[in-house]
Amino acid sequence: MDSLKHQDPELYGYLEKETERQNYNFELIASENFASKATISAMGSVLTNKYAEGYPGKRYYGGCEFVDQVEDLARERGKKLFGADWVNVQPHSGASANAAVYLAMMKPGDTLLGLDLAHGGHLTHGSPVNFSGITYHPEFYGVDKETGLIDMNKVREKAKEVNPKMISIGASAYPRDFDYQAFRDIADEVGAILWMDMAHTAGLIAAKELNDPLQICDVVTTTTHKTLRGPRGGMILIGNDSENTIGVVARKSGRTKNWSEVLDSAVFPGSQGGPLMHVIAAKAVAFGEALKPDFKTYQKQVKANTKVMAEEFLNRGYKLVSGGTDNHLILVDLRSKGLTGKVAEESLDDAGITVNKNMVPFDTESPFVTSGIRIGTPALTTRGFKEDEFRSVVELIDNVLQKPEDESNRKKVKQQVREMCEKFPLYDFVIV
Ligand SMILES: Cc1ncc(COP(=O)(O)O)c(C=O)c1O
Repeated sequence: MDSLKHQDPELYGYLEKETERQNYNFELIASENFASKATISAMGSVLTNKYAEGYPGKRYYGGCEFVDQVEDLARERGKKLFGADWVNVQPHSGASANAAVYLAMMKPGDTLLGLDLAHGGHLTHGSPVNFSGITYHPEFYGVDKETGLIDMNKVREKAKEVNPKMISIGASAYPRDFDYQAFRDIADEVGAILWMDMAHTAGLIAAKELNDPLQICDVVTTTTHKTLRGPRGGMILIGNDSENTIGVVARKSGRTKNWSEVLDSAVFPGSQGGPLMHVIAAKAVAFGEALKPDFKTYQKQVKANTKVMAEEFLNRGYKLVSGGTDNHLILVDLRSKGLTGKVAEESLDDAGITVNKNMVPFDTESPFVTSGIRIGTPALTTRGFKEDEFRSVVELIDNVLQKPEDESNRKKVKQQVREMCEKFPLYDFVIV
């Protein structure tokens, strides 16, 4: 067969440009990372051809003996990585994993209590524009206006007031860790199911650099492509599949079946068709990488880099939501600098620095403008940046934000960004 470059030069050209962008820009989107060549090559394998509806040993198609081994490998490694009793590696994405949890654990109209999107939560935690807010009844807790932290007393008050069927933990833009036991106590007080969506922080949790929700929450979902550094995809886990955990959940849901079986059915046939076997293979590769000791070193560095970045921003007079960070991201409140998130995102983008505008809690700007930017360290840490490089990253960001309208300054910064990237080479291929 012809190479992609010869068969489809137009498409190949776009891939070349995107590879160039990733190689020579500062990638600071908190939900992004750089997967390894091995992970990417598994995604480009012939497994994309195979239909395998069902689960290993119970498929609806023939010819599944080898993909069964692939999925079993991904499941075993996923369980080992998180110390989980059970996992499902088939969700196509984080949103799909969450959809399966809702389908398994809630009936339409049931109440979910989750973190407000405007305070760092995710669309799938009850936003009115998402299936979760359309199908179920969403109620929200938020962060304290002064501290920027989740106030557990307020969560308890709200839980008692709305009596939720399920409480969700987890966020897309919360720079602090969670007190899972405090959530567990509240969930038990009101008889709710406790669900943690660790999409953002899974890598840090696997490396034991953050509190561990697995043995405390009834169910945990994740993406595999953020701090976990795998292929784009999702996963569902149960830390403790013993009688006790099932007991709490079953009491609330009125089900008596083993909880893992209900979740398996909610993924397939409940909400998905055939699994993406090439992506499941890549999940196995990435989990294998995450089980090696240098993954822990990497996650420690992610945390150290984020701390340095927070300090540098504070030294330069910026305000950070919650005053700092425990994890892989910071949320910069730009109001004291007279800037909006939109202006910051656009001017930084033009200087080769990729961040995203983000609402800050109690924001008065619209989601299209916002008062903040979210900055994460996982991707640049993967390419080898350490504390010194992150000090330079903040210096360059500050340089642009001091005069965002100055085009020649942005050009100069872009050149400096490129020179730093050249010292930390990333991908030496366009396709594998
Ligand atoms: C907390 C959280 N959950 C779920 C998702 C959804 O993941 P995906 O984009 O893979 O559907 C995200 C993505 O940003 C997230 O931050």
